[in-house]
Amino acid sequence: MKILQDKVAIVTGAGSGIGRSVALTYAQEGAKVVVSDMDEDSGRHTVRLITNQGGEGFFVKCDVSSPQDNEALVWATIDKYGALHIACNNAGIGGAMAPTGMYPVEAWDKVIAVNLSGVFYGVRYQIPAMLNSGGGAIVNMASILGSVGFANSPAYVAAKHGLVGLTKNIALEYGQKGIRANAVGPAFIKTPLLKDLDEQTMQWLVGRHPIGRMGEPEEVAELVLWLSSPKASFVTGAYYPVDGGYLAQ
Ligand SMILES: NC(=O)c1ccc[n+]([C@@H]2O[C@H](COP(=O)([O-])OP(=O)(O)OC[C@H]3O[C@@H](n4cnc5c(N)ncnc54)[C@H](O)[C@@H]3O)[C@@H](O)[C@H]2O)c1
Repeated sequence: MKILQDKVAIVTGAGSGIGRSVALTYAQEGAKVVVSDMDEDSGRHTVRLITNQGGEGFFVKCDVSSPQDNEALVWATIDKYGALHIACNNAGIGGAMAPTGMYPVEAWDKVIAVNLSGVFYGVRYQIPAMLNSGGGAIVNMASILGSVGFANSPAYVAAKHGLVGLTKNIALEYGQKGIRANAVGPAFIKTPLLKDLDEQTMQWLVGRHPIGRMGEPEEVAELVLWLSSPKASFVTGAYYPVDGGYLAQ
């Protein structure tokens, strides 16, 4: 039997990069996957990829910075599949780069709205649905920058640190009610999120990973799968880097 057989999973930001890879991995392991993204075309393409590999899923448009969209996403999941067992809160943006004393206020508000409030709005509605479904597993997509700083990215670093704290709180509140919550901390992963970086910056970033390269989305999805599965039944409130050794330095 597949490890997520008959489980119902939501993945936000599943139209690209890590989220798409998580959605495909969940589906390969037998989950029914609710693919959500604010970009309809890319989200629907992820559903086609799932269907092509023999999996089950459907698309719901959701801008995670909207509480209403998050509530509607959970309701659409319950309407279609009758339960919610797994949520990978993955949608995120990089945001502007500038030192803190010059950081544009609008850019700060946007990054916090998507990367931190967006996850709170998600779990706010996912948790009651999971409690009604007999329990569940939440995996929040933080970053190595949920553990250390990165000059010129104050909003991203603050949001990802906040996300790690939120994850711990969920674990404390719902551990005895059958919900586990963990955070994942990827280092730099080859996805469209890094598309605006020039070649020199990319090479510099590669050099910061002791393993000598950036990661692939599939390497993050493997960890997310394990944390989402019964194999991680005693794991909650934790932060797991998947970082090619970045944080070992
Ligand atoms: N790529 C990396 O190096 C890296 C490293 C650490 C953490 N992460 C985190 O992983 C997550 C996924 O990043 P990625 O690299 O796959 O990026 P990506 O840009 O490839 O994919 C992000 C997806 O999120 C969607 N999205 C953006 N804003 C949204 C919103 N408001 N509501 C709903 N969907 C929205 C986009 O449409 C896109 O499909 C993010 O939270 C990111 O911070 C990425």
